[in-house]
This record gives sequence, structure tokens and C-alpha cells, in this order.
Amino acid sequence: MIIAIDGPAASGKGTLARRLAEHFGLHHLDTGLTYRAAAAAMLKAGTALDDEDAASAVAAGVDLSKLDRAALSLHEVGEAASRIAVMPRVRKVLVEAQRRFGEQEPGAVLDGRDIGTVVCPDADVKLYVTASPEVRARRRTDELAGRGLDADYAEILTDLQRRDERDTTRTDSPLRPAVDAHLLDTSEMDIETAFRKAVDIIDGI
Ligand code: DC
Repeated sequence: MIIAIDGPAASGKGTLARRLAEHFGLHHLDTGLTYRAAAAAMLKAGTALDDEDAASAVAAGVDLSKLDRAALSLHEVGEAASRIAVMPRVRKVLVEAQRRFGEQEPGAVLDGRDIGTVVCPDADVKLYVTASPEVRARRRTDELAGRGLDADYAEILTDLQRRDERDTTRTDSPLRPAVDAHLLDTSEMDIETAFRKAVDIIDGI
């Protein structure tokens, strides 16, 4: 059983994926963390982010069992991840590891940008989770402020739009809904409603 969830940054897909994995008793992989782990290692080593040889070597060393969400959640890491994610050799290495993860019994929920289109094109269910940029920026701002961190709505909105632009226009595996994905626009939904709708879709297949 594979559930593929794609969507832009701060769309709510991560929370939804975690809840669905728990509900259906499946493994869960936030594939963004694999790009973030490689990017964080590059930043730590001071390696130039446009060095594809270095980035693909670092990506090959990413251990999926040791992805530390808290340490990888920094904004700079997400930005760097989006930059190295345009590199085909980095994607190839990480996609192979993600596919292996999805082969575990009894199945898995994977969330990211290209799960339904590239990583798991034969997934049992594909969801494309989205929300307007303004709603996503508001959620991200509130989330950061709630953690006592600096959060400027206008800056966050600009950053999200830049990230969307890079993720949707790259040549290799751009962010887009798979033709057979169910669209879930969460602009006017809370997480509970989105979760219920997703469960209905999955139970209905
Ligand atoms: O979901 P996230 O913010 O943690 O992802 C960080 C970056 O990683 C994102 O801007 C693009 C890249 N990414 C990707 O290219 N493909 C995926 N399946 C997941 C993330």
C-alpha cells in the first residue's frame, strides 16, 4: 500500500501525511527531509551549493533512519534544499533511497513534490495538497511565532513564492499534480477537515 502526497511548501501535506500514516498503520517518509539532510551537510562543510559532484556524493550518504526533523527545519536549510533539488544526479540518488523506503511492509505514506509523478507512479492513492500562497504564508508565520521565533509575514510570503517558482519550473521532476491525483485545496479547511476528506478518498478506492 503506497499513499503518495505532493504539494508546495507549507500546504499542510506533511501533517496530513503523518496523520494518515498513523491512521492506516503505515511507515511515513517526508522526502523533503532527505533533500534537507544533504543540503544541511553541504552548508556545514561550507561546500558551494552549485557543486553537483559534491552534492550527489553527500546525497548518497544520507541515512533515512537518521533524519532529524527539528535540526533540519531551519529556513536556510529549506532554501538550500530547494537549490540542490534541481540537480538530476542528486535527485537520482535520493529517489532510489525513497523507493526502497516505500518497499517496506505493510506500505508507506511518502510526501514531497514528485512522489505521484516520479518516485511512486504506481501508488495506490495520490493526493495533491495545495492552498493559496497567502494562506500558506499565514500558517507558516503563525507556526514560527507560536514557537517564539521571528516571523515576518511579507518576507515569508516572498520566500514561499520564490520556492514555488524554483520547485515548479525546474526541468527535472518539477512540482505538479500527477494526472491521476486527487486535488485537496486546504485554503479554507483546517487540518482535521483535510484529514477526514483524505481518509474518505482513500477508503473509497
Ligand atoms: O518540503 P520541504 O520544504 O521540506 O522541501 C525542501 C525542498 O526539497 C523543496 O523546496 C524542494 C525539495 N524537494 C524535492 O525537490 N522533491 C521532494 N520530493 C521533496 C522536496
